[in-house]
Amino acid sequence: MAFFTAFIALFLLASPATFSYGEMQPKMGVCYGELGNNLPSPEKSIQLIQKLNAKRIKIYGANPKILKSIQGTDLQISIMVPNQLISAIYNNQTLADDWVKTNVVPFYPQSKIRYLLVGNEILSSQPNSTWFQLVPAIRRIRNAVKKYGLKKVKVGTPLAMDVLESSYPPSNGTFRSDVSETVVEPLLHFLNRTKSFFFVDVYTYFAWASLPLQISLDYALLQPTNITYTDPGTGLLYTNLLDQMLDAHVFAMARLGYPYIRLFVAETGWPSGGDPNQIGANIHNAATYNRNVVKKFMAKPPYGTPARPYTVIPSMIFALYNENQKPGQGTERNFGLLYPNGSNVYPIDLSGKTRDSRYPPLPNPNRKLWCVAVKGANLRAMGGAMSYACSQGNRTCDPIQPGGKCFNPNSLAVHASYAFSSYWAQLWKEGATCFFDGLAFMTSKDPSFGSCKFPSIDI
Ligand SMILES: *[C@@H]1O[C@H](CO)[C@@H](O)[C@H](O)[C@H]1NC(C)=O
Ligand SMILES: *[C@@H]1O[C@H](CO)[C@@H](O)[C@H](O)[C@H]1NC(C)=O
Ligand SMILES: *[C@@H]1O[C@H](CO)[C@@H](O)[C@H](O)[C@H]1NC(C)=O
Ligand SMILES: *[C@@H]1O[C@H](CO)[C@@H](O)[C@H](O)[C@H]1NC(C)=O
Ligand SMILES: *[C@@H]1O[C@H](CO)[C@@H](O)[C@H](O)[C@H]1NC(C)=O
Ligand SMILES: *[C@@H]1O[C@H](CO)[C@@H](O)[C@H](O)[C@H]1NC(C)=O
Ligand SMILES: *[C@@H]1O[C@H](CO)[C@@H](O)[C@H](O)[C@H]1NC(C)=O
Repeated sequence: MAFFTAFIALFLLASPATFSYGEMQPKMGVCYGELGNNLPSPEKSIQLIQKLNAKRIKIYGANPKILKSIQGTDLQISIMVPNQLISAIYNNQTLADDWVKTNVVPFYPQSKIRYLLVGNEILSSQPNSTWFQLVPAIRRIRNAVKKYGLKKVKVGTPLAMDVLESSYPPSNGTFRSDVSETVVEPLLHFLNRTKSFFFVDVYTYFAWASLPLQISLDYALLQPTNITYTDPGTGLLYTNLLDQMLDAHVFAMARLGYPYIRLFVAETGWPSGGDPNQIGANIHNAATYNRNVVKKFMAKPPYGTPARPYTVIPSMIFALYNENQKPGQGTERNFGLLYPNGSNVYPIDLSGKTRDSRYPPLPNPNRKLWCVAVKGANLRAMGGAMSYACSQGNRTCDPIQPGGKCFNPNSLAVHASYAFSSYWAQLWKEGATCFFDGLAFMTSKDPSFGSCKFPSIDI
């Protein structure tokens, strides 16, 4: 009887995709970015990838040395047509054919090329003229793939979370109105017709970091908690932020008439370090998140998401290495599972077979936040902001008065940082923010010194 009930439940909840694509086995991948001037050779990198027990890799181009080094391994690889070629390919089939002939044909099938991604997060950057060339370019690449008989290669394009204009609640998931009809609908038509995937780059880290006091850190880290969120539109129960973000895409696709296109997590991850104003980026959180991701996506039977239970979602962790030449904020250069010298930033086993208790203890997580003054700001403005902070709350600035524990060193920067932290810690629940017209920023680095303890917020 129990068996019978379980079977009915499975049958009712599972989307048709479960059945048509049930043959897919869970396999974890890693994104092999090469934006570093100190990275190991492709041959060495492939050995390191195999030591991590990854079964898939994604590269951001079609480096022939990498394609050669995976020959004879069971690694499945996803390669990429660079963004700069899209404009040229979209109205030139010969160029699409040539690209595939040069970059794919010589290595197929000895190298298990399985996914050919056209561009990277095209809809997140300007010029917008490229946006409208994307789907025609994808079709041309697919024509070339067919022409050369590369039957196992699926064609698609990875998009970032900003392709959604609404993602909350998940059932309200909607594509951006500037691309929904002109780009996304034709893309979905293509993906549905060719039985390809909707490739998404999803980072709970960025969602959490933009609202760290509103979103529970553990919910973003996929930790077991008793925090749940029920989507009022569907009644579906969520237990982590990643499922919410994935289902927002599912509902956005359904809204355009494509309820069954499979998701492929083309990137996810958590940084192990960053700039002083980037909170939550540490080894403890990075290891916790990525290990939980492996557990989630390697589970048998697969978990899927609340909207699509029991479906396999192929996934790749970003990234293999910390890449010192990636532009942007500090976190961008700290997503790696490995340092450039090949040693682990923290131990991780992408097969999903290592239980948490078998990993050595992680460094203690810092779960406090302070609000401190930016360096080199205008002194008058800083003085004004400090006076305002001190005028709010109770005894907010007592310790920076003469004779107080935080009076010395008698510097405006230290006093302002104290005042900001003290003000924010007392009043954040009433809506106070750590901003002060850009004179202050949140940090997880404790500014306390000696017997002077700065007030903080627990996350
Ligand atoms: C299309 O691409 C091919 C191969 O690169 C090139 O020889 C040809 O001139 C291009 N055609 C046009 C119209 O740009
Ligand atoms: C493309 O960008 C230009 C300039 O930023 C803007 O004027 C135009 O409306 C945009 N077009 C679309 C379709 O979004
Ligand atoms: C649903 O999405 C729309 C935009 O597509 C947004 O304006 C609205 O606030 C969202 N609803 C909720 C409950 O967040
Ligand atoms: C998507 O593909 C399925 C199966 O190939 C087909 O039955 C369905 O009509 C397609 N949906 C749309 C909206 O084209
Ligand atoms: C569950 O929630 C309660 C408060 O509602 C809290 O005290 C308890 O620690 C939570 N348990 C876990 C495992 O988070
Ligand atoms: C590798 O690099 C990391 C970070 O720079 C360093 O902590 C570690 O000791 C290095 N390991 C070896 C074996 O050199
Ligand atoms: C300040 O103290 C008063 C009286 O003790 C109290 O009612 C009030 O809530 C306090 N305000 C803050 C921001 O702690």
